[in-house]
Amino acid sequence: MFTERQDEKVKDKLGRNINYLRISVTDRCNLRCKYCMPAGVLDVCHEEILRYEEFLAVCGTAVRLGINAFKITGGEPLIRRDIIPFMAELKAMDGVRAVTLTTNGIYLEEHLPELVRIGIDGINISLDTLDREQFADITGTDGLSRVVTALTATAESGIRTKVNAVMLRQTRSQILPLAALAETMPVDVRFIEVMPIGIGRFERGLTEDDALAVLQQKYTDLRPDGGTHGNGPATYWKSEDMRGSIGFIAANTHKFCDACNRLRLTSAGFLKSCLCYDLGVDLKAVLRGKAGGTLEGAIAAAIGKKPQGHCFGEREEITEGKTMNQIGG
Ligand code: 5AD
Ligand code: SF4
Repeated sequence: MFTERQDEKVKDKLGRNINYLRISVTDRCNLRCKYCMPAGVLDVCHEEILRYEEFLAVCGTAVRLGINAFKITGGEPLIRRDIIPFMAELKAMDGVRAVTLTTNGIYLEEHLPELVRIGIDGINISLDTLDREQFADITGTDGLSRVVTALTATAESGIRTKVNAVMLRQTRSQILPLAALAETMPVDVRFIEVMPIGIGRFERGLTEDDALAVLQQKYTDLRPDGGTHGNGPATYWKSEDMRGSIGFIAANTHKFCDACNRLRLTSAGFLKSCLCYDLGVDLKAVLRGKAGGTLEGAIAAAIGKKPQGHCFGEREEITEGKTMNQIGG
């Protein structure tokens, strides 16, 4: 139960309720998506990356500030050793309402039984195309069948399952095949506009309206369902033909910053106030005694620095120099 005082503490200066933290546990990834990290990553020394006990210390303090939902992301989180015991510990922490995972799905099938066992609250699988050659072209890996197998198993396991599909011009032909996943499985298929962060700034993808026009040709009864399905900014649409639904994350064309509820922690321990700006607090310095103050004060400061909204429309104002694999989406 949150007291009134705690409720006040978690609102930012614009009155937004900050209750969600995304944690990038590694900037490394086994794939090389062309809009994310096609050339791999610079080798960051292990010492620079937060240890699990440091992440847990941050989460424990975040819970006391009213943050109760956590997303484990990367890079690819499933390639970090002992990631499941870490998630189990986070799940078991007092006051934690939800722990969810974002993964590219390549190593998901073998981890699924453990994820079920620890009671994971949701899994998002990144999948931009169902065409094997195109998948290999986009990700640098011939891994489509592994991802589809893992997706099917996850949806069947009863875990809340979402597909994240970044909309590239080359994947226009994939909008209907991807949407059809929501016909056969109880999954939310979410179409994401490419954000101008990292290498994404060189990619001109499709918009929500582009995709909607294609989808409405086939699903003539497609209607907004009015709900939120988790922590995020997606808007959802439903058709009678579907077991799941269609979602859009349209940061460029349908700005959703008024309802922003989140902070982001990079694997190197920087707590970001907003995706768009290099604003936030170096929590690693606080954790390791290189900066004064408390963790609680530092997290509150990052909340205090949250801007009104992103500046994806005025790209010269974007000050974030980190890449998506460092930030975690
Ligand atoms: N814009 C939108 N989504 C992106 N992702 C990576 N880079 C970008 C970008 N520039 C996505 C990945 C994955 C999630 C973690 O972030 O495809 O679905
Ligand atoms: Fe929030 Fe920044 Fe994302 Fe907008 S861009 S929704 S303000 S984190």
